[in-house]
Amino acid sequence: MAVAFVSGGSKGIGLATVLRLLAEGHRVITCSRDADAWKQAIEQHPQLTSADYMRMDISNEAVLKEAFGHIKEKYSQLDIAVNNASPDIASAGRFAQISDDDLRSTMTNDFWAYALCMKYQLNMMSEGARIVNISSINGLRPTPSAAMYGASKHALEGLTRSVALDAIKNGIRVNSVAPGVTWTSRWERKQQEEPEIREEVSKLVPVQRFAHPDEVVDAIMYLLSDSAQYIIGHTLVIDGGISLT
Ligand SMILES: NC(=O)c1ccc[n+]([C@@H]2O[C@H](COP(=O)([O-])OP(=O)(O)OC[C@H]3O[C@@H](n4cnc5c(N)ncnc54)[C@H](OP(=O)(O)O)[C@@H]3O)[C@@H](O)[C@H]2O)c1
Repeated sequence: MAVAFVSGGSKGIGLATVLRLLAEGHRVITCSRDADAWKQAIEQHPQLTSADYMRMDISNEAVLKEAFGHIKEKYSQLDIAVNNASPDIASAGRFAQISDDDLRSTMTNDFWAYALCMKYQLNMMSEGARIVNISSINGLRPTPSAAMYGASKHALEGLTRSVALDAIKNGIRVNSVAPGVTWTSRWERKQQEEPEIREEVSKLVPVQRFAHPDEVVDAIMYLLSDSAQYIIGHTLVIDGGISLT
């Protein structure tokens, strides 16, 4: 049994990851900002009661530091970390029109919080531990409609590769998964304003559909597994071919 931390485990890819890790018999610690959403997830998946849930905003540095302090006190060490939490994009739109606060919020949530999480996690890890960061195809190519989100994911990609080279000296593997469009709660919220969005976006994907969160989790679990022992600082793209277009 491994001790695993997954950020943003109440919805979407994070929730599917928590469920998979629990099904594999691991001890899972997870977090999100809205405890009611976590309660709803438990109603749908009663097995989540065995996860250790913390209500926290990973963009709050003091809260994050304290949370990892508690995790260290309670579990001593971490074997697995999946850094996944990301809010709806605060800074979508034309770059020059976006407020400084919204730009900073995206950078803080989608890059800086990930960097701090990785730092705290590495300090609780030893040989054989594994980290997977959830990046995006927006971290691999330009995204003019969400430039700061794309830039934060590019930064995460760069950090993943550099930290991977450093961490492997201690036998810790760090990789990333870059999903394309994946049908999760963030798209369901967009669909309320744009009812055709699922159909329209699906047409842009070579396989003509969104990914299911479980398809992204398959990639995460592969990188966490012993089958991926020779894979270091790699980005596994799961995007139905959209980044090739
Ligand atoms: N879905 C896609 O098409 C897609 C494509 C490429 C990459 N990705 C990446 O995949 C990851 C997961 O996305 P998703 O689509 O599964 O998102 P989602 O359905 O919106 O779920 C995001 C999860 O993160 C939590 N969260 C958000 N901000 C947080 C914060 N500051 N502190 C703690 N928890 C926070 C959310 O709960 P609360 O809101 O309650 O905090 C929720 O549990 C993200 O890194 C995203 O960038 C997604």
